[in-house]
Amino acid sequence: MSRIVDIRRETPLVKTFVLDCAIDAEPGQFILLWLPGVDEKPMSIAGMNPLTVSVARVGPMTIALHELHVGDVVGWRGPFGNPFRLEPERRALLVAGGYGSAPLYVLAQYALARGIDVTVAIGARVADELLYADKFEALGVPLLLSTNDGSRGVPGFVTDAIRQHFIEPLSHERTSSAASATDARSLHNVTVYACGPERMLVALHTLCRQYGWNGQLSVERYMKCGFGICGQCALDDILVCMDGPVLTLDQLDGKKDFGHWHRGPTGRRMPI
Ligand SMILES: Cc1cc2nc3c(=O)[nH]c(=O)nc-3n(C[C@H](O)[C@H](O)[C@H](O)COP(=O)(O)OP(=O)(O)OC[C@H]3O[C@@H](n4cnc5c(N)ncnc54)[C@H](O)[C@@H]3O)c2cc1C
Ligand code: FES
Repeated sequence: MSRIVDIRRETPLVKTFVLDCAIDAEPGQFILLWLPGVDEKPMSIAGMNPLTVSVARVGPMTIALHELHVGDVVGWRGPFGNPFRLEPERRALLVAGGYGSAPLYVLAQYALARGIDVTVAIGARVADELLYADKFEALGVPLLLSTNDGSRGVPGFVTDAIRQHFIEPLSHERTSSAASATDARSLHNVTVYACGPERMLVALHTLCRQYGWNGQLSVERYMKCGFGICGQCALDDILVCMDGPVLTLDQLDGKKDFGHWHRGPTGRRMPI
């Protein structure tokens, strides 16, 4: 069991919980967080030392967690799953939706420490749900923001912000007479690392294929055991808890469940 040493309100929906312990993990891995007498649920690692999670208040377990105070204790096990694998020769475009900012913030720090050129794009429904925008700003990386209602950043989806600010200027440079070979190459020399709603991941998968980018997408499924026993987290023939949550474009190519089906608490297949 670990004690909560700090709780921060990030957005109207999300609080960050800092525990009095550390974890030896890699960016993109997750833990199973346990509230005795309530439930145990998967949460991405938002910080390793001290162990930190950022949690959206959506249902019974997360509502109970949000009611805890500094000094209360929680249980956890992990780390689980396959992490993001940095590709040092390629520009990194980190794309977050919802609480996806949390694991990508850890990844951004790792990438910058390795001298990788990082751009971050965050999408949300409204401005005050843009999670970790201030933290990414403090890292000094280019930050593309989008909101569905246009209250901050580009109106629409995060992929609209990426097209507007990332792809279109590079395309113009490429076709202008002053374009250098480096500019032209940089449009293709990109790896997308993404975590967020599955609809966003599907759109990014398409975008990556369109521009010849590499992609590593962190996919969510309802999880129980976390280590390949129960089959609850199946996505076609993939067990997301073991083979994912971070999956490559190739791993997701042609998967019928991706963007369409998941399994609910009883294991029944349900539309996403
Ligand atoms: C790999 C992974 C990492 C995650 N990281 C985070 C994170 O960093 N922050 C965060 O706020 N949430 C994260 N989640 C989602 C989080 O696990 C659910 O929001 C949480 O389980 C909701 O539980 P609840 O009892 O509050 O709500 P419920 O009413 O039980 O569920 C609300 C929603 O969460 C989903 N969910 C419920 N139980 C599970 C489960 N056991 N496994 C997966 N999804 C579930 C449901 O499908 C539903 O859409 C992650 C999920 C996965 C699979
Ligand atoms: S959660 Fe049990 S097999 Fe993945």
